[in-house]
Amino acid sequence: MKSTARRGLLKFLAASPALATLGSWSARAEDHPLASAADALDVFDFETAAQKIVPPAHWGYLQSGVDGEATLRANQAAFSRYALRPRRFVDVSHIDLATEVFGAKLATPIFLSPIGSMRAFNPEGEVGIARAAKGKGALQILSTQASFPVEDVTAARGAPIWFQLYTTNQFEVTKKLLKRAEAAGCPVVAVTVDTPAGRNTVTATRMRREDKRVCSNCHAVDERGNPRLGTNTKPMFGGIDMQGVGLTSASLTWDFVKLLKDNTTMKVVLKGIEAREDAELAVMSGADGIIVSNHGGRATETGRGTFDALPEVVQGAAGKIPVMMDGGVRRGTDVYKALALGAKAVGIGRPAAWGLAAFGQPGVERVLDILNNELRLAMIGCGARAVHEITTTSLVDRGPGYR
Ligand SMILES: Cc1cc2nc3c(=O)[nH]c(=O)nc-3n(C[C@H](O)[C@H](O)[C@H](O)COP(=O)(O)O)c2cc1C
Repeated sequence: MKSTARRGLLKFLAASPALATLGSWSARAEDHPLASAADALDVFDFETAAQKIVPPAHWGYLQSGVDGEATLRANQAAFSRYALRPRRFVDVSHIDLATEVFGAKLATPIFLSPIGSMRAFNPEGEVGIARAAKGKGALQILSTQASFPVEDVTAARGAPIWFQLYTTNQFEVTKKLLKRAEAAGCPVVAVTVDTPAGRNTVTATRMRREDKRVCSNCHAVDERGNPRLGTNTKPMFGGIDMQGVGLTSASLTWDFVKLLKDNTTMKVVLKGIEAREDAELAVMSGADGIIVSNHGGRATETGRGTFDALPEVVQGAAGKIPVMMDGGVRRGTDVYKALALGAKAVGIGRPAAWGLAAFGQPGVERVLDILNNELRLAMIGCGARAVHEITTTSLVDRGPGYR
């Protein structure tokens, strides 16, 4: 059975008058390799399916990193440094994936990282992600740049979500975003700190040049039908005077954490920490938590995977605040390894977008099912019956050079 959402997307794409300019790209249903979300065996099946139906500019936006994409590749490769060390004759008849972050119960340690403009992949956008997160009891973090406002997504999730904050360059605007997220019931703001001043998006820019369509699905269009690509078209900025507002500010320092804390009742989590010293400074500055992240290889071209950075950040946080991570997580075994090295929860970005693109909400649900099941199997194999039983004793370090 093909989902209605997918048919809707294909119909929308087929109706695009400029489709003919796209050369070899097409959105023909018969190109789609999966008949239903249930047919997917791993998250890469959704990547293949999504590529068939997501137009080039949007695919470039989703898949790309920065510069030559060494960091993007490193994120995924980093997990192979460690092998798993199974244990036998542990009673693994009951496996519990449940965990808690800031006192909130979650059915799984796998959370949905914020991705901007998710209607670029499927009209359901962040609402489809929320419905899937609700079904699977997963935490969702909503981007400042989301295609749907925090109120709609919270309603669809049926429980509080976290709000991802871009700092902006005008604190009055930042305050309005904070108040709106608070009013919607968000208990946590995850402030992204990894892109203070621009980035070099080579692949995304290249692919955008190939794709001349006007896409009203994800971008507002002006009176001439040209897409309005700026930040000010996003729902979270509705009602705000966006004159001169930028998403980030190059001049911010650690004082900003205190400023945020003084201006919000939400817990403040720093998303994008990769060094031990910064973890220590985060604790000293009063941050409530950390997400080790390099924006999915889209910020600085460090060439280092976030999984490689996780141990030093955990060391810096010294158990005083929870450390989470995302970047390159494609298997339940990746999640297992990150939990073993001290992550409290582990985020996925692109895999959820692939599921959404291919099938809408059911696709995201299946992505979560696949990863949860792979995690469960790793726990069974290693004799860890609950998340708190996942420790470094089940890891074998093959050395930093092993990829
Ligand atoms: C297309 C795309 C858009 C993203 N948008 C945001 C965003 O708006 N805010 C943010 O903090 N991170 C954003 N991220 C980074 C993700 O939150 C997350 O850190 C990253 O995707 C994790 O890596 P993965 O995609 O390999 O799982 C984005 C990532 C992608 C791929």
